[in-house]
Amino acid sequence: MTPSVAIIGGTGLTALDTLKITRRETLSTPYGEPSGPVIHGELGGRVVAFLARHGPRHALPPHRINYRANLWALHRIGVKWVIAVAAVGGIRDDMTPGVLAFPDQLVDYTWGRCCTFFEDHLAQVTHIDFTEPYCGELRERLIQAARALNLGARESCAYAAAQGPRLETAAEIRRMERDGCDIVGMTGMPEAALARELGLCYAACAVVANRAAGKVPGVITMAEIERNLVAGMDQVRSLLTQVIPMLDGER
Ligand code: HPA
Repeated sequence: MTPSVAIIGGTGLTALDTLKITRRETLSTPYGEPSGPVIHGELGGRVVAFLARHGPRHALPPHRINYRANLWALHRIGVKWVIAVAAVGGIRDDMTPGVLAFPDQLVDYTWGRCCTFFEDHLAQVTHIDFTEPYCGELRERLIQAARALNLGARESCAYAAAQGPRLETAAEIRRMERDGCDIVGMTGMPEAALARELGLCYAACAVVANRAAGKVPGVITMAEIERNLVAGMDQVRSLLTQVIPMLDGER
């Protein structure tokens, strides 16, 4: 059976224990190797595929992820929907640790990443429309599912895609805030654009792991991030179980 839904798991969601695993598929693509095998299984009565963005051992930093191979692999196996789970820092005041957020806009501050499928052997130069970077239909279902579970998720926000792997300076966060950004992560781009180039319905579920740099006194530690993600990812697991049956299987 062909999965219709894929989940890309980020920091804090390297494995999905709610997935009843049926097989692991190692794919190679014209763009190289994906982060790891695509895990096929069943969740919420649906055939679902799972891919750990940073690899099964969480060893790939954001700028080293082969985003093209990951998206190509998911496209190859025939999925329609892609739910991208990602840890973020909270810029807006209500983006506090543990909060779930569904971005509807993004600003891309990344550089030096392979960011398109449209570069070699083109019949003509191709520009995709990216006015709305996330799939409205999938965002709507995520919002409905979160409301049904009373998760108090933030339903509209702008995601800043930072280069990493270091965290931001306080001044960089102030700049992102002036640019209209509400949350900051390191993996949202080029992932979202590549999904659009392939015609996938892609939306993000962000989990606030920490207040962004300069928003609270002191340093941001990995221990703090990991601690906050534990509770946040519990909410994500419930959300996925709720939303997946709401997604149709047709392309
Ligand atoms: N900045 C960028 N990416 C992140 C952060 C952050 O503060 N927290 C988790 N991912």
